[in-house]
Amino acid sequence: MVLEFLYLKNFKIYPEFEISPHPSFNFFIGPNGSGKTTVLESISLLLSGKSFKNMSDLHLIRHGEKDFYAACRLKEDGVSSRLEIKFESRKKNKELLLDQKKVTSYKELLIRFPFVFSISEDHEIITGSPDSRRRFFDRLISYVDPAYFDQLLRYQNVLKQRNAVLKKHETALLAFWDEELIRLSRQISRTRQHYVQEINLLFKEYKNLPKTFENVHFTYTPSCHENEMETQLIKNVKKDLILGYTSVGIHRDDFLLSYDFGLARNYASQGQLKSLSFYLKFLQAVMIQKKTERNPVFLLDDVFSELDSENRKKMLELAGETGLQIFLSATKEDLPFNLLDSIPHQIFKINNRQVNPQ
Ligand SMILES: Nc1ncnc2c1ncn2[C@@H]1O[C@H](COP(=O)(O)OP(=O)(O)OP(=O)(O)O)[C@@H](O)[C@H]1O
Ligand SMILES: [Mg+2]
Repeated sequence: MVLEFLYLKNFKIYPEFEISPHPSFNFFIGPNGSGKTTVLESISLLLSGKSFKNMSDLHLIRHGEKDFYAACRLKEDGVSSRLEIKFESRKKNKELLLDQKKVTSYKELLIRFPFVFSISEDHEIITGSPDSRRRFFDRLISYVDPAYFDQLLRYQNVLKQRNAVLKKHETALLAFWDEELIRLSRQISRTRQHYVQEINLLFKEYKNLPKTFENVHFTYTPSCHENEMETQLIKNVKKDLILGYTSVGIHRDDFLLSYDFGLARNYASQGQLKSLSFYLKFLQAVMIQKKTERNPVFLLDDVFSELDSENRKKMLELAGETGLQIFLSATKEDLPFNLLDSIPHQIFKINNRQVNPQ
């Protein structure tokens, strides 16, 4: 999938913005606060229908304006698609259009327009709460196995119902929701187990990575074993009634990232965390490519800062090997200009709300 054209109107810092990206590497270069990340955010918004950082649509409107508009044209296997987003503050209504028809579900976009977004907060996948790791795997698996996305939605809904029952102390209704929760937990847990193995295989496959990644692997740590779920739900029911929520289930699972000698979060340096986070997103993109035979758009925000030249070189090499279309933001100081000769690319200089292709 290649993004051929991007247009923004009154989107955050930009009164108007228009580019025709390169099918391979696109570098957005500019000083801090110039609007580089904004370009990547707009692409992710168009492809998913949602702001990546859960930002309210109102904040995406340029200060002093009443609405924003974003559009792009994509091409895959010779077929063009047009995505548009319109948001009017007066109506507080976001309209998503695919080829001029209303998009009715986010799943439709998820299936049609895969993308991977590497952001500075990605170190949280390693150092943050289990929630960040669940998000990483849930997103990855949903792209590769859309049925998993449906199971997750159903699970969240069932969990909400069970928690409501707990809050109202309607204990007679618990058995019904428990049964559904156990069934869905089993399916989701097995799929998670499978994809942890798959990603561990990919870690092994990419042998030519920096030393930081030798013997890195994920371990799936479910909140309870699938065969014990029923016993655990019953055992915890008193506690759950007091808390008003369900304390066991796949919403409490974790995925630990370790070196042979211990957890990555306890040993990785700042730079190693940064390159490791990039690497996780890189493997996410590779996995989507391998399993779906589709090419996700790869968005890389500020991945070069804090990294040494060896790591920067490796990143460019790896990203280049995928053959994906890449959108990468960096300050002039962070972009390794000496490495760009060997890769097909376009540089877009950004300053004063203007974009200049170089
Ligand atoms: N709704 C808005 N209207 C106008 N300007 C906005 C709006 N929201 C954010 N901005 C401005 O957009 C700029 C942020 O842009 P962005 O995050 O894309 O910068 P950047 O080039 O990625 O910077 P950095 O190098 O620091 O990461 C800031 O100057 C901010 O004040
Ligand atoms: Mg930025």
